[in-house]
Amino acid sequence: MLTELAAGLSPDSVLRRNEPLAGRTTLRVGGVAEIYVEPASEADLAVVLRFCAQRGLPHFVLGRGSNLLVRDGGIRGVVICLAQPAFGQVRVEGGRLVCGAGARLKTVATEARRAGLGGLEFLEGIPGSMGGALRMNAGAMGRWVFDVVETVRFMDAAGAVHECQGSELPVRYRGCAWFRDHLALGAVLRGEPATREQIAERTEAFNRRRWSSQPTAPSAGCIFKNPDAVPAGRLIDELGLKGTRVGGAVVSAEHANFIVNEGSATAADVLRLIALIQERARTRRGITLETEVEIVGE
Ligand code: EPU
Repeated sequence: MLTELAAGLSPDSVLRRNEPLAGRTTLRVGGVAEIYVEPASEADLAVVLRFCAQRGLPHFVLGRGSNLLVRDGGIRGVVICLAQPAFGQVRVEGGRLVCGAGARLKTVATEARRAGLGGLEFLEGIPGSMGGALRMNAGAMGRWVFDVVETVRFMDAAGAVHECQGSELPVRYRGCAWFRDHLALGAVLRGEPATREQIAERTEAFNRRRWSSQPTAPSAGCIFKNPDAVPAGRLIDELGLKGTRVGGAVVSAEHANFIVNEGSATAADVLRLIALIQERARTRRGITLETEVEIVGE
């Protein structure tokens, strides 16, 4: 099957079997990708998607691996990662930022600062890619990505490219269901005119806030969505669960809605710790904690 897929791709595309994924996630746990592809171009990406559709092979799009928990048995089918330069461009055009899905959000924020575009500072500290941020409607500091999205380019399962207004998509807190069946290729972001000093000041304030409240050890970011009643971090803290451990997975002492990997954690450890926290929240406080982190694999 691999040989057949390889034959349809340009030589610059990366194609591997049984590719370890732990090192490609910020939590650093999980198994392998049965087939791993980094397409070199949109044409090659279309070849991969059509290949999957024709053979009924599942595919999963990996961004920068934050907000992601890959189970220890790995991911069956095809894992697509838009890590090649063709997908990572960020350029300024008429006061807008044109961003590829593979671009790091940090790069997007840096380019915005250079171009004097304010309002995008919140992207700086989110350890994700543009595509992942669209898929999850990533947010921080009271804003989320779709607040600043003007248009989105995406590919459908048949490999055709489309564009639409961000406002046309079904967006909610930490999610955009559209990208379950469509693959984000990029977005045009709008900003507001601001001086570089103003942008730098806001960026620093956000960074200070993040550094003082969130752990730097490997994690997947916040594990649970904030329920209406109380922020998940405060709830887990109040339940006295900071420092609770399963194997190498520990509830962060800095922020209770983070599970950190002390180095030896497996996905099973993290999943058991998630279940323990959910159980305590339900029995002690009657609150259902829904995971924010995307859990995939076998
Ligand atoms: N809190 C505690 N104990 C803790 C952690 C938090 O009491 O251990 C309290 C804080 O004092 C605060 C409240 O809980 O009163 C909320 O905490 P925080 O201000 O840290 O924000 P958050 O709601 O926990 C959200 C996002 C983060 C984002 C930050 C900063 C969610 C689930 N989380 O965190 O996003 O970085 O705001 O804007 O919406 C992520 O999505 O992965 C993520 C980290």
